[in-house]
Formats: sequence, structure tokens, C-alpha cells
Amino acid sequence: MPVAYVDMCGIVGYVGGQDATEVIVEGLRRLEYRGYDSAGVAVIASDGVQSRKRAGKLANLEKALAESPLPETTVGIGHTRWATHGAPNDVNAHPHLSEDGRLAVIHNGIIENFAELRDQLSSGGVRFLSETDTEVAAHLLAVELRDSADLTEAMQRTCQQLRGAFTLVAASADDPDTLVGARRNSPLVVGLGEGETFLASDVSAFIAHTRSAMELGQDQVITITRDGVEITDFEGGPAKGEQFEVTWDASAAEKGGYDLFMLKEIAEQPKAVADTLLGRISEDNQLVLDGLTISDAELREIDKIVVAACGTAYHAGLVAKYAIEHWTRIPVEVELASEFRYRDPILNRQTLVVAISQSGETMDTLMAVRHAREQGSRVLSICNTQGSTIPRESDAALYTYAGPEIAVASTKAFLTQLVATQLFGMYLAQVRGNFFGDEIRGLVSDLASMPNKIDLVLDTMDPVRELARGLKDARSVLFLGRHVGYPVALEGALKLKELAYMHAEGFPAGELKHGPIALIEDGLPVICVMPSPKGRSVLHEKMISNLQEIRARGAFTIVIAEEGDEGVVPYANEIITVPAVPTLMQPLVTTVPLQVFACELATAKGHDVDQPRNLAKSVTVE
Ligand code: F6R
Repeated sequence: MPVAYVDMCGIVGYVGGQDATEVIVEGLRRLEYRGYDSAGVAVIASDGVQSRKRAGKLANLEKALAESPLPETTVGIGHTRWATHGAPNDVNAHPHLSEDGRLAVIHNGIIENFAELRDQLSSGGVRFLSETDTEVAAHLLAVELRDSADLTEAMQRTCQQLRGAFTLVAASADDPDTLVGARRNSPLVVGLGEGETFLASDVSAFIAHTRSAMELGQDQVITITRDGVEITDFEGGPAKGEQFEVTWDASAAEKGGYDLFMLKEIAEQPKAVADTLLGRISEDNQLVLDGLTISDAELREIDKIVVAACGTAYHAGLVAKYAIEHWTRIPVEVELASEFRYRDPILNRQTLVVAISQSGETMDTLMAVRHAREQGSRVLSICNTQGSTIPRESDAALYTYAGPEIAVASTKAFLTQLVATQLFGMYLAQVRGNFFGDEIRGLVSDLASMPNKIDLVLDTMDPVRELARGLKDARSVLFLGRHVGYPVALEGALKLKELAYMHAEGFPAGELKHGPIALIEDGLPVICVMPSPKGRSVLHEKMISNLQEIRARGAFTIVIAEEGDEGVVPYANEIITVPAVPTLMQPLVTTVPLQVFACELATAKGHDVDQPRNLAKSVTVE
């Protein structure tokens, strides 16, 4: 049985006046976070298509190009791949060529009927070299091109035969000044430069050249030349893309003097939070959420909110539940998007589904959005990526302004998701009259002070780094929290798992005695996220009891506590202090040391922090 290869990859296409290979490799470098199992590039030269491709990271392809350069041309395509199964080898790397070598194709997504099409093509005499579904598209396109002699029409006909999710970009030696792309359920954006045009999985691939961009709609085919674009649907009927300006510049996607993107992105958090607040708080401290295209009347009708998200974004959703329920008294459920539609959730017009996604392309979240809308619910997406699919398919979008997040592990996007969900919660409370004006003003000015507080945390991270280095050989680390500290514990554990490849678990501290306390043994590092001691908080007292319980059993306790919290001193082996902030905003400061801890520990173990094994930034398969 053929093996299905699944990609959620980075795609770049270029037609212009510069050396295509150079532009494409530079674009792939910015997209490498999407997948780094292999990389390849193909250009149209005078004697046909020429390509180089290599398994492994982009550096391997660059080496191959240095040893055997491609001819200097101005049209080409490139790809960086993430494979779920099978060997990510040179042969399975993209681009894939037609049998006569005159056509090259790159692909992101899954062609679900590839086995059927492959059998059909094989019985017609086509010889396959790789095990990928992509090669089917290359051969199919070649067959259609023989019949129609027009690359755009051949692409339309090819797409009509494909099922599943795909972005395709093709280059043909018979049409050397043109590239043709297509998309269904998978991202493709266009960069419109001066005398040059780009196709890419996301705008980071071309922002060094142009900030003028266009997003394509579902089931569209695009033909690009250096001077413009033409868009049709899969049947050949006229279609339109939507133009937009990218608000961040190329330097935002560079390391800017840091050794790692993750370090840079951790450091950028005060700015990311400030940018997400910008323009959303009026002079008199009222909330203004421009772009929220759900009317106030509709917001007043909502009787339930369901947050759907994955991974770190799901943790932001868990924090949002505490804030939104507290402020609005609307019940909030938080769902892992991958589970959501499979359990027949109760949804109707009065349910607001909030989809949180940094990339805006996560397939699990997208499917949750579609399911919710099919059931008649309204969907608000909280997203960091302009032109991406999830906001486009939602009823309204609230953007976070973290800028490009390149490191695979999410940091600054998480903090901005916390801010955006809180802004939305406050807005909802404002619209529904749950708040008096001065309450809003108080909360808003608390939020506005968060960039400074995060800055203060960042200034005191040296002891955290030292602690992390000292624990590099630990077998396991536990994270405990209560209330909003619980999602923070989950987030701390997730960061450590994905970066340090270490066993880590986050628990609600009160749940320990119901089982997990059996894990505690002599010397086991346990990181505890303390609630504020202010007002002799019951939560703080309970957490102190939990600390005592684990200390009595030999745990090595690392306590993240508010400055001045003397109560924890007797029970902490190490204390990391953070500034005092309102309880619901605590995750904005308590998460930061956990990000730094995981980053440093993984670095001490010698891991590739920006590109951890087995992961990809944008998970566009279910
Ligand atoms: C963890 C991480 C992932 C993402 C998740 C959702 O550090 O980055 O868990 O949070 O894959 O991704 P988005 O937010 O793009 O939908």
C-alpha cells in the first residue's frame, strides 16, 4: 500500500528581475519554521527546468547550491517541507518534476485521492519516482498541459480532479515568464512588488521586497508575471483577491542581534503587548475594538462562549475563561480544537465561538470554525497573521500585534492572546452593561501598565537561567498552579516538553492529592506558580499547603511569587519574584520566567531551540 506523505510546508514562487534562486532561498529561510525536513528549489533556465533538493534543513540545500549552482534566472519556485511519516529524503523533497522534466510543482497540504490518481496515471504509463502525493499533481498537470497547452487552464483542470487540502505552485519551461498557483484549504498569499511578483505561504517570505500583499480566496487559481496577476476560480471564471498592506517590516523577522529567534521574541513581549493595546483604549480609558464586525446588539444576545484552540493558544483560552466569566457572567467553555467537532457540541446562534490562533492556519482550529458556523454560531477569531484562513472564514477578527513569530515555540503570541481575550472580555462587559465606567477605566489602565511590568520581569531573569542550567539533567519537572496559575503551569510544562524533550506535567495544585502526588520523590524539581498573597487570599493559603505537602515528600521547590510574598519563603528552595499585578493579569508576568527557563535548559542540553525536533510552526493537517 502506498504511504501517504503529508506536508505543511513553506512555499515561495518568484517572477521578477533579481536572481530567482537567491530570492527564493532567502524566502525559504523565513519560512523554514513551517517545516525543516527537506528543502528544494527549481528555476526555469534556457534548457528547461533545473532543480536542487536536499533532505534536512535549508543549510543542506544551500550547501548543495554552493557546490553546484543553478543558472542565474529570474523565475523559480522553492519549498521547505514538514513530513508526518516516511523518510524525509532527497527524492521525496519538493519540487517534483513531470516525466519530461519541463514542469516543476511544489505543494502544501494533502491530496486525499492521490492513491486513486496515482493508480490511474501509473496504468497510463507514468513512472513515479517518489512516494509523495505531490508527484501526482505534477504528472496530472503535465497530462492536462498536453491537452490544453495553457498552464493556467491545465492547473484549473488539475484542481478540479484533486480532493483534500492543497496549495500548488507550478513552473513550466514552455511558459518561462509565468508561475501558476492554486489553493484550497491551504494558504497562499501574493506579494506585489515593483516589476516583481511573489507567491508564498505567508508574507514573511517576501516582506524584504514588498509590503503590498494580496490574499487569495478559496478554490482560486492565480497566474503571476513580473507585472501583475490574474485570478480565476477552478472552473476558469473570473475571481478576485483581496489586497492589503503588511504592517510589519523585514527587520521584524530577523534575529536582530539575538542568538535565537525565541530569545528575541521573549524580549519583544512588552512591545507586542503594547502594540496589541494600541488604538484600542480611548483617551478616557474606554475600549474601542475597531474591526470587530459583530454588532453590539449581537454581542448582547450571546448566552454562551466556546473558545476553541490548540496548544499554547488553548492555554490562552483557559486563562480567558476566568476573565470573561468573571467580568461578563457569560458561561465560557474552552475546547481543544481537535476534539471540538467530534463530540457533537451544543451550538446555536446565541453561542459565540472564539477561535484563537497565532498562525491563522491551524487545521484543527479551522475545522472547529467551520463546524461552528455550519451550526449557526458566530465566530470571532483572535489571530496574529493577516491574510490567513481562520480570520478570513470567521464572522469577525480581533488581531494581535505580536509581529512575526518565527521560533516554533510560541511566546509573544501567547501574551498577546491573553491581552486580546481580556480586551474582548472587557468590551463585552462594557457593551452588556456589566461594568460601570470607572471599573472599565481601572481595568484598562491595569492592562496598559503590563508592558512595563513584563519589562521588569525580563530584567531579572539571570537567576532563572542559572537555575535552568543546573537542572539540565533532571529527568522530569512538574508545574503546579491554581486558578489562572493552572494554565500557566500547563504552558510551562509544554514549553519544556517541546524544547528540552523532557518529561514535564502541569497540574492544578489542588488535584495533586488525587493521584499525581505519587510522582513526588526526593529532589524532583517542582515549579509552583503562586497566587497573590494580597488580602490573605484563600488561594494563596491553599497553595502554601500544597507546597508543604510536596516539600515534606522531598520535592525541590521553585516558587514564582509576587514580590514581597514572605509566606512562601519557608517552603521554597528557590524563589523567582514577579511584580504585583491584578490576579487575572498575572499570567502576563508569571509565564515569562517559564519561557526563559525552558529556552535556557534546552540550550544547555544542546538542542535546536528555534526548530525543535518533530515540530512545525503551522500545523495545517488534522
Ligand atoms: C507551542 C505552540 C503550539 C501552538 C499550536 C497552535 O509552543 O506553539 O502549541 O500554540 O500549534 O498554533 P496556532 O496558534 O498557530 O493555531
